[in-house]
Amino acid sequence: MKSVSSNIELKRLTGIKAADLIHSGMTVGIGTGSTVAFFIEELGRRMKQGLEIKATATSYQSRILCQQAGIPLVDASFLDKLDIAVDGADEIDPGLNAIKGGGAAHTMEKVIASMADRFILIADETKLVPRLLTSFPLPVEVMPGALSLARKRIAALGGEANIRMAVRKDGPVISENGNFILDISFGSIPDDLKELDLLLKDIPGLVETGLFLGMAEMAIIGCKNEVRTIYPAI
Ligand code: 5RP
Repeated sequence: MKSVSSNIELKRLTGIKAADLIHSGMTVGIGTGSTVAFFIEELGRRMKQGLEIKATATSYQSRILCQQAGIPLVDASFLDKLDIAVDGADEIDPGLNAIKGGGAAHTMEKVIASMADRFILIADETKLVPRLLTSFPLPVEVMPGALSLARKRIAALGGEANIRMAVRKDGPVISENGNFILDISFGSIPDDLKELDLLLKDIPGLVETGLFLGMAEMAIIGCKNEVRTIYPAI
């Protein structure tokens, strides 16, 4: 779904910069992806210098990286509040609405982002778009038994839902919740994404969408000459 190797240096600088937001005593939500991997690495480096935090992670990938970095993890099941959550994105619009789910982890990412007092996006500049859904299809997580129903209902909403296929496994990607990921392309982009989100979540067996609307307080963006902090345009 995405190229994780592109813009790696911008992602690295962005992940390092985002770690400046983290202070001792915080409980931190940790997203998923190649940009977040650099954030985790930097937190691990700072912990060796005395930073004391607890974290909860959105995926096996991030849990493994946190463990390797020496970051103590708390099971999200036992948390309802976080000081901050930091996560990557696949598209970000000027209002800091985002598409996520390139790594098939968006359901847990949304749970963790929703617990956090502050939700911060981190990405390289290629993720900035004038309008969501311009270049990245919308990921949704769907229970296997709801596959055909979901595809039919999505078609009625004007979308074409493709089952995300695994790369080094035969058959579909299976999410960490045991579900399929459908990537939806729209012939013409729906005007009201909030309404689209509600209509999609109304489909029985559709667990979560990759639309993160009005959730991010700020984004840290790796640009060619600098790492910029941006806020939602009103
Ligand atoms: C995973 C995600 C990722 O945060 C998103 O795909 C961005 O990843 P990367 O930093 O590797 O470009 O939503 O579900």
